[in-house]
Amino acid sequence: MTDTKSAKLILDNKSFDLPILQPTIGPEVVDIRKLYGQADIFTYDPGFTSTASCDSTITYIDGEKGELWYRGYPIEQLAKQSHYLEVCYLLLYGELPDQAQLEDFENRVTRHTMVHEQMNNFFRGFRRDAHPMATMVGVVGAMSAFYHDSTDIADPMQREIASIRLIAKLPTIAAMAYKYSVGQPFVYPSNELDYASNFLNMCFSVPAEKYHVDPALARAMDRIFTLHADHEQNASTSTVRLAGSSGANPFACIAAGIACLWGPAHGGANQAALEMLQQIGTVDQIPEYIRRAKDKDDPFRLMGFGHRVYKNFDPRAKVMKESADEVLDLLGIEDNETLKVAKELERIALEDDYFVEKKLYPNVDFYSGIILSAMGFPTSMFTPIFALSRTVGWIAQWKEMIADPQNKIGRPRQLYVGSDKRDYVAVSKR
Ligand code: CMC
Repeated sequence: MTDTKSAKLILDNKSFDLPILQPTIGPEVVDIRKLYGQADIFTYDPGFTSTASCDSTITYIDGEKGELWYRGYPIEQLAKQSHYLEVCYLLLYGELPDQAQLEDFENRVTRHTMVHEQMNNFFRGFRRDAHPMATMVGVVGAMSAFYHDSTDIADPMQREIASIRLIAKLPTIAAMAYKYSVGQPFVYPSNELDYASNFLNMCFSVPAEKYHVDPALARAMDRIFTLHADHEQNASTSTVRLAGSSGANPFACIAAGIACLWGPAHGGANQAALEMLQQIGTVDQIPEYIRRAKDKDDPFRLMGFGHRVYKNFDPRAKVMKESADEVLDLLGIEDNETLKVAKELERIALEDDYFVEKKLYPNVDFYSGIILSAMGFPTSMFTPIFALSRTVGWIAQWKEMIADPQNKIGRPRQLYVGSDKRDYVAVSKR
């Protein structure tokens, strides 16, 4: 980061020079870190629409062009030519691995897929009808009670072990949350299977019947993981960073990320999108829902549409759409009513002035639910799958922050608009 340029802020006839930081690519950044100390003034940006909260080398998004890169590599290339564990290595260590590095990494992740046996009992404390995300927030947070030897964030080796444990165990935990919710026995991980196949097996095999993992479905699953692996400083990643900035252990930080991801404006949108398609029900109902989405007085939004950063198209959605077509073809799923509604809704929204003017396009969550549902996952599992995929991104961002010597606790300020100072009045006199 260089600061060869500066911006000037004039305040009550006093001038303040604010350095401008240069990115590798993307908008320049005005550095206001010293502003409060020098000028006794805050900046105001709820929702962080104009604020860079950190510097990072991991992921780059160009919202106008619809581009997403992990460590400089376009998402389309990684989704089609690479695979999830290689992408995990790339996100964590900054470069693509050579063959030996990849094998070593895959081996390390594979050897950590089992969870502490005592965690089975922990699961059993939840109600069977708990949402798998509720279970995951609790169980992932509880990992810090099970893996004490990797919670010292000052030790780089412990940080590394915690990272591998989280990437390895999240699919096991997500699958256990699912199995628990449907009343089936937990399925232990199978280390001869690849990452995606192992997850499918843990979700769909039962002791009474062997489950055959279709390699094409495993490939589609792996691609879903890759497409969700990181997305720069989104709400859940910022949550992980903020939690981690206080020195909290990585398991607690990732649990915080999962909690944030659950909301329907973020990762919860994949569940909400499919439920919305089911609620719309038939193609003839679409105009009514479009009307509601445009009505300022109606809180209804088209779930799976719009994005804070993408104002052209979501490149993940493009790949996901291709994948959806492949999976539906593979499974021989003809246009069922939900699929017909999805296609027609997409067509109408893309031509509608309201959506065109506001640059609202289908996002990744619009198509992922269609694939996951075709694979046999209930809607409640969509967000847990997003969470397990995003875990590597959260960890890469957390590690980057912890290793940064400039790291300090995140502590936003506020514009106070509450009552002025007043004296307490006894209850009998109010
Ligand atoms: N349906 C109808 N109108 C919408 C929608 C939508 N899905 N999204 C945005 N708008 C309108 C919004 O009402 C506003 O209109 P106006 O300018 O007249 O007030 C305008 O578009 C801008 O919206 P915003 O809420 O200010 O934009 P934002 O950047 O704060 O929100 C968003 C982005 C993703 C939260 C929002 O588009 C949304 O709620 N979409 C539906 C939920 C969804 O699909 N989320 C997944 C995002 S991608 C995966 C992820 O991040 O996890």
